[in-house]
Amino acid sequence: MKKFNVCIVGGGSTYTLGFLKSFVRLKEEFPLSKLVLFDIDAKRQEPIGKYGEIMFAERYPDLEFAYTTDPKTAYENMDFIFMQMRAGGLKMRREDEHIPLSMGLIGQETCGAGGMAYGLRSCVDMIEAIHQIREYSPNAWILNYSNPAAIVAEALRREFPEDKRILNICDQPENVVRSTSRLLGCSWEDLDPVYFGLNHYGWFTHMYDKKTGEDLLPKIREIVKEKGFLPQDAEQRDQSWLDTYGFVQTMLEDFPDYLPNTYDGYYLYPDYKVSHLNPNFTRADEVMAGREARVFKECEEVIKEGKLGDKFHAISDAHAEMMIKVAEAIAYNTNGRFILIVENDGAIANMQKDAMVEVVCELGINGPRPMRVGSIPQFYLGLLVQQVSSEKLLVDAFYEHSYEKALQAFTLNRLINDAKKARKVLDALIEANKGMWPELK
Ligand code: NAD
Ligand code: G6P
Ligand code: MN
Repeated sequence: MKKFNVCIVGGGSTYTLGFLKSFVRLKEEFPLSKLVLFDIDAKRQEPIGKYGEIMFAERYPDLEFAYTTDPKTAYENMDFIFMQMRAGGLKMRREDEHIPLSMGLIGQETCGAGGMAYGLRSCVDMIEAIHQIREYSPNAWILNYSNPAAIVAEALRREFPEDKRILNICDQPENVVRSTSRLLGCSWEDLDPVYFGLNHYGWFTHMYDKKTGEDLLPKIREIVKEKGFLPQDAEQRDQSWLDTYGFVQTMLEDFPDYLPNTYDGYYLYPDYKVSHLNPNFTRADEVMAGREARVFKECEEVIKEGKLGDKFHAISDAHAEMMIKVAEAIAYNTNGRFILIVENDGAIANMQKDAMVEVVCELGINGPRPMRVGSIPQFYLGLLVQQVSSEKLLVDAFYEHSYEKALQAFTLNRLINDAKKARKVLDALIEANKGMWPELK
């Protein structure tokens, strides 16, 4: 069986440990020859690298493992590159969330003003990284889930138009499918969803039972009405995530056509959301105090012990497993179904051809084959056209260094929606992102 060479960009990420464990767990299904972690921050990556060395020596001794800040060592001879960088780090995520919220606007990692701020930083860093990757591994598959994936996907579409081995992915649609399966009491793999939208802005039009073909959406509606909605891994989630999932109940009551992505709540109820977010302690603060602290504490303990012992518990890491399954589908040409971000090109019949949309695709060695959803109703079309316009204008601003285009992107974003507010928050974000954004003139 062929074994693969994999590199993770953003080796110091809070998600990397989950990947390392998942690669061990999936070593029969997706065997690795070599795994390299790459990060621009050697100090942050080091404890994770050391954890990897200890774990693989015990459980994957034939794996060649390294961690590095050198692009050549990281990128040469790779089959798959998993990209999970956070341009500007969690420190800047905090700014993205706090600055808009201080002005009464949604402050969120990927939606609204904060998402656009992160978007401009990610355009700079992602484009640079992929040019570097292509110097050393012209044919590697690049699986990107660095956020904000919608904006990054649009920028990569323009920067690398001929490159058919860059794939943009988000785990949230599958997380919603998994959560639905928990409600229904079935396996998520028994569900066959139909989905349309942009990244972090979409809906399930059907949720078929894979075996019988029955559309379970009416049943799901009834159950959610009665019992609410929970993430599949609710026991491991912070309260803010439980609230976000719980809000699906409200969305389904008001808009019963389709099952929403959890992120739709920001766009449909911005005032309510702003009034329920704490401007002094946002999700970034929660992540730093929670997941980030936990991950680095686990590293510290394992490094001190010099062995894994009972530290290797098989907590389901849906995120890592999904990304590894995507690589597996390409590697073995399975043509399995995944919800992916692709150029529209008719998948949503009444949306522009060059929008980056999120739909169900069959995935194999020749890349994704999107499945058509037909025309979508006016309400959803209106929401999505407004958002895709905002995203495209932001990427125009990036390429043209244009303040005017950025102001248009911010004004058009439903979570700002007012030119004076747009200018105010844009100016504050320009100040906070000095040296990390292109200079807007
Ligand atoms: P994190 O800050 O803990 O980790 C990011 C790492 O990237 C850091 O170690 C940082 O030093 C590194 N980094 C920053 N710029 C880099 C560059 N130019 N090149 C290489 N490395 C760089 O963040 P996190 O919370 O673990 O999230 C990591 C990323 O994964 C974020 O972009 C997040 O949005 C994304 N993510 C996406 C999905 C999805 O569904 N699309 C799901 C989970 C996480
Ligand atoms: C989901 C989304 C990701 C996002 C993440 C944030 O997985 O699909 O795009 O980055 O949530 O999670 P966090 O716990 O960092 O707020
Ligand atoms: Mn996502």
